[in-house]
Amino acid sequence: MNKLNVNFLGINFDNPILTSSGCFGFGLEYKDYFNPNELGGIVLKGLTLEPRTGNIGTRIAETPSGILNCVGLENPGIDVLEKEIIPNLKKQGINTKIIVNINGSTVEQYVEIAKRVNEIKEIDMVELNISCPNVKDGGMAFGANPEVAGKTTREVRKVLNKPLIVKLSPNVTNIVEIAKIVEENGADAISMINTLLGMRIDINKGTPILGNTFGGLSGPAVRPVAVRMVYQVAQNVNIPIVGMGGINSWEDAVEFIMAGATMVSIGTGIFPNPLLPLEVKEGLNNYCIKNNLKNLQDIKGIAFKK
Ligand SMILES: Cc1cc2nc3c(=O)[nH]c(=O)nc-3n(C[C@H](O)[C@H](O)[C@H](O)COP(=O)(O)O)c2cc1C
Repeated sequence: MNKLNVNFLGINFDNPILTSSGCFGFGLEYKDYFNPNELGGIVLKGLTLEPRTGNIGTRIAETPSGILNCVGLENPGIDVLEKEIIPNLKKQGINTKIIVNINGSTVEQYVEIAKRVNEIKEIDMVELNISCPNVKDGGMAFGANPEVAGKTTREVRKVLNKPLIVKLSPNVTNIVEIAKIVEENGADAISMINTLLGMRIDINKGTPILGNTFGGLSGPAVRPVAVRMVYQVAQNVNIPIVGMGGINSWEDAVEFIMAGATMVSIGTGIFPNPLLPLEVKEGLNNYCIKNNLKNLQDIKGIAFKK
């Protein structure tokens, strides 16, 4: 029997492992390493209505146990997704769940792109990114302001006919407050965390290393922050959580599930180890067998204080 099987927002997922937006391209970039159908689902690179070229200058800088990035939502736009990318995924036999990460600079743009996504039947769910730290308008500014986060969620929920996951920013004082607000305004699930705002300086030039000055920190360095936030939010909302931030092994994934996450998502960890999602899947299955679990979900939230 499949011990990793999970029902997430009324849809059956073969396993709880997703790949995070921006770290798995548009679904086929890693196909020489493994078949994406091995995953519970794939979250595509952040998408906007119009194509974006992203930020200029250096976009990635290494940091201790992580990276800073300021890609700036480079993407081909919704038309190319609809006419080329999704048909090609299907042509290549991709039948795992497809989650699209949507972005905008105004509430109207978020609403508009949500309407467009409705028309693409192959898309199973939507992840509303109100947490990108690398764009001037929209992004994190939406996710860090409770009122705007609520309004954006509400307006998108009104028009969207697919399950809605809202992706939260860790760059806030009170993550529980924002989580509750997006829940009240119609989020079906929460994903967390996006990257933490950071910076590096080139000491030879005395200038910021990244073209955008600041970037988003991801990788193992952020994991304890992410686990803490999932743990806090899971005890204060009634909707499921996709946990992510620095997952580098199956043990890390177990931490997120014990903290209350239903699903886990792998981002930066796939860059140095493209086989990581498969290793996590195998490790989680062995963990269930070793601990006599009927299903991995049996350990969800067991770290909560009684
Ligand atoms: C290069 C890069 C690009 C990213 N692009 C997006 C994006 O387009 N949309 C989004 O919601 N998150 C984006 N993220 C954030 C990740 O999806 C994830 O939330 C974050 O990196 C934390 O997980 P990790 O430590 O496992 O990478 C990006 C992260 C990286 C490293």
